[in-house]
Amino acid sequence: MELKRPRNEFPIDDSLDELERLAETAGLAVVGRAVQHVERINPATLIGKGKLNEIIASRADTPFDVVLFDEELHPNQQREIETAFEGADIKVLDRTALILDIFAQHARTKEGALQVELAQYEYRLPRLTRMWTHLARQAGGASGRGGTGGVGLRGPGERQLELDRREIRARIAHLKRQIEEIRKQRGEHRRKRKREGLPVVAIVGYTNAGKSTLLNALTGISHPERSEAESKDGARHGQGRGVYVADELFATLDPTTRRVKLPSGSEALFTDTVGFIQKLPTQLVAAFRATLEEITEADVLLHVLDASHPNAREQARAVEETLEEIGAGGKPVVMALNKVDKETRRQVDKWIVTQDDFERDGNAARISALKGQGLDALLALIEQAIAEEMIELRVRIPYSANELAALFHQRGIVEREEFTEQGTIIEGKIAASLIKRFARYGTQIDTDEH
Ligand code: GTP
Repeated sequence: MELKRPRNEFPIDDSLDELERLAETAGLAVVGRAVQHVERINPATLIGKGKLNEIIASRADTPFDVVLFDEELHPNQQREIETAFEGADIKVLDRTALILDIFAQHARTKEGALQVELAQYEYRLPRLTRMWTHLARQAGGASGRGGTGGVGLRGPGERQLELDRREIRARIAHLKRQIEEIRKQRGEHRRKRKREGLPVVAIVGYTNAGKSTLLNALTGISHPERSEAESKDGARHGQGRGVYVADELFATLDPTTRRVKLPSGSEALFTDTVGFIQKLPTQLVAAFRATLEEITEADVLLHVLDASHPNAREQARAVEETLEEIGAGGKPVVMALNKVDKETRRQVDKWIVTQDDFERDGNAARISALKGQGLDALLALIEQAIAEEMIELRVRIPYSANELAALFHQRGIVEREEFTEQGTIIEGKIAASLIKRFARYGTQIDTDEH
């Protein structure tokens, strides 16, 4: 069910197609859809009464037991709609509930599971009333006292409800503490990585864009570094070193980090994480803060776009909006226009437009993660973006501190090198996090000179 709203960027049918894919991923079979164009929202049931009755009546021809809304439903609306089905065992869900369900199915690490649980409880808390009244109604019916059973049950029901709410609030607080602990551990881990001076590239993109496939392709040509999360993932799926790839929405929920060799021979860490989707509620994004910090703390973002998708533009915009929302809007971005191998006549037109859009400022490469095409050009763009984030330095390193000269070669970009009696003179670029180690041997180069 979709409601026409002027600000919805995705064409209605496309948004519903996506909802259908989400439903299938969650294990539901879709038997029909309905669209209503409304001027004013009906606060009680979101859609108009007539439309709702039409949907209820359609059950006679096509039986169903779940109604999915593409728009976010207020808890009261959810209750009202369920009530309108007059005792039929109908579940009314919205897009968020569906996404949460998929997340729950796909969480493979403790961090993922905790964050999903938090998001689920926060979603459920205001909806608790509905669950309880539903139970109360059943209890009333079964006791044979007739009616809705509300009167006799209201007292204990309310008390039980308050208890449930208190319990959920306590659970939420507990989950937040546990997640905070994990967040601290992640922060510590990141600081350690920073001290090593390895630049971090976070792979971002719409769900199903090909992020995991790309990470696999990139590590296929370099040395993988297995993270804890990924080793569990690999074990579960029997995939060895490969990152889990599936033609499902939100197949990847937990961050995976790998070492990738760049064209100049230096290395960077690439992190693949949860995909984005349009209409992702803020509360859901917030629950994934620990995971999303891998993005906000990265040096460069690699935005993977399924450029063969009819909604490529809208998807790119949804990703950019989510990046803004999590505070990663100002990061340097390299675009990977993925799935070039999938071109069809219709998509060729789309391709040209999309490519023009993103290649204008020279930070996009056309690739096929599946076929391993265009990866060198993509890595060159990433290396360039990383270099732009580095600081220019001129140092004279005494031979007694030769390991620092080696470090410059390994982690930085050496532009000039000269061996003198007093030591090795190096001019080049190095990550800001490593500057301190060279401080006693040189000076930062004022970029205006160059
Ligand atoms: P989420 O986990 O949902 O965020 O997905 P993801 O972005 O990690 O995508 P994933 O790598 O799992 O790929 C999704 C689907 O797209 C899989 O069926 C891949 O085989 C397919 N795919 C990825 N890259 C390409 C490509 O270059 N060409 C083609 N034809 N298919 C691709």
